[in-house]
Amino acid sequence: MTAAGPISCQLSNENLWDDAVLADPYPSYRRLRELGPVVWLEQPGLVALPRFAEVRAALADWKTYSSADGVAVADQVNNSMSTSILTSDPPLHDRFRKPLMDQLSVAALGRDGPAIDATAARFAEAVTMAETIDAVADLARPYSLTVVSDLVGLPPDGRDAYPELAERAFNLFGPTGDRLLDGVEALDELQTRTDDACPHLAPGGKGEELCELGMAGSVAAYTWPGIDTTVNALGSAVHLFARHPEQWDLVRADRALIPSAFNEVLRLHAPVQFFTRVTTADLSLGEVRLPARTRVLIMYGSANRDERRFVDPDRFDVTRNPTDQLAFGRGIHLCVGINLARLEAHSLLSHLADRVARFEPAGHPRWMVNNTLHGPATLPVRLVPA
Ligand code: HEM
Repeated sequence: MTAAGPISCQLSNENLWDDAVLADPYPSYRRLRELGPVVWLEQPGLVALPRFAEVRAALADWKTYSSADGVAVADQVNNSMSTSILTSDPPLHDRFRKPLMDQLSVAALGRDGPAIDATAARFAEAVTMAETIDAVADLARPYSLTVVSDLVGLPPDGRDAYPELAERAFNLFGPTGDRLLDGVEALDELQTRTDDACPHLAPGGKGEELCELGMAGSVAAYTWPGIDTTVNALGSAVHLFARHPEQWDLVRADRALIPSAFNEVLRLHAPVQFFTRVTTADLSLGEVRLPARTRVLIMYGSANRDERRFVDPDRFDVTRNPTDQLAFGRGIHLCVGINLARLEAHSLLSHLADRVARFEPAGHPRWMVNNTLHGPATLPVRLVPA
C-alpha cells in the first residue's frame, strides 16, 4: 500500500499534479523514465511505472495488476466509488463490458457510421465558414458531444452540461486536494443527470437499449469517458497539424494515412494520462521488489514517449503508425469506445482534409489542468480553405 512508505527503488520529488506539470508533463516524464522502470513518487507517495515495457505488461496482466480496488490515486476515492466496468476484474467485469462491447463493436457501429459521417461533414463545413476558430470550443467539443448524445439518444435540452461535468469528474482520479473534491462533486451531478435522462432517451438509441437491459448505470459509460477523451484527442490533432503543416499536407495527399496519423496524435498526447492498479502478488521488476497490495501508477502518456520503444519519440510523424501505442490502454480494460473514437476522428479528419488546406496557429493554446485528462483547453487557429 502507498501508505506503508517507499519501496526500495529510485525516488523522485517530481509533482506530476502540479498545475505547470499537468499543462506540460513531458520533461518530468523523461526524467522519471531515466531514473528507472519503477519510481517512488514522494508526492503523493506512490509507485509509478513511467516506461513503455512495464506499462504494457501491467495492462496485459489483470490477475497481477487488479482494478478491483479502484483505479484512482487516492484511497478516499477508491474506497467510496461504486463498482463499475473500470473498477472490476473478471468475472464481474465481463458483465459490465459485454453489453457495451455489443453496442460498440466495429460491426454494430457500421449502422451508425453514415450518421456520424454526416455530423462530421456538417461540422467541417461549419467551421470553414469562419476564418479563425477555437478548435476546442467551436469544433472538437460540440462535435464529440453531438455524436455521443445522438448515439445515446440524449434529449437536446441539457446536453451542453456534459462535457464540463465529465471533464471535472476526471479530476477525482488524482491525489487528495481541491481538484479531487471538485471531481467528486461533478461526478455526482453527472450521474444524477444521466439517471434522470433515462426515461427521456430517444427510442432505438444505445441508451434506451442499456436501460431495457437493466444496465441504466452503464449509460454513464458514454456520458463520462465518451466525450472529453475524444475532445482532447481531436484538439491535440488540430494543435499538432497547425504546428506541423507538412504533416497535414501528407494526410491531404493520402487519406489512407488518417488511421496512422490518429494513432500518432494519441501517442504524443494521450488524452488519459494515468490510472492505477493494485498488485495482487509479490513481484520483481528488474531490481525492484514490489510487495503484494502495492498501488501502482500506470503512466500511459509517458509510456507512449519512451525512447526505448519509439525512435525520436517527441517527433510528430504521421507515417509512423504506432499501432501499439497505449493511449487506449491494453488487455481486458482496453477502451471499450475505441472503435467509436476512431470512427469519429477518422470521419472528421477526412472531411477537414477536403476543406482545410492549412491550420495556422492564431495565438497560444492553453493546456488543460486536469488530474487525469490532457489536451488543449483553448486552441485558436486560422483555417486556410482548400
Ligand atoms: C480518444 C478517445 C479515448 C481515449 C484515449 C480513451 C482512453 C481510455 C483508456 C486509457 C481506458 C483504459 C482504462 C484502464 O486501463 O483501466 C479506457 C477505458 C474505457 N473507455 Fe475510453 N477512451 C476514449 C474514448 C472513449 C469513448 C468514445 C467511450 C464511450 C463510448 C469510452 C468509454 C470507455 C469505457 C466505458 C472504458 C472502461 C473499459 C473497461 O474498463 O473495460 N472511451 N478508455
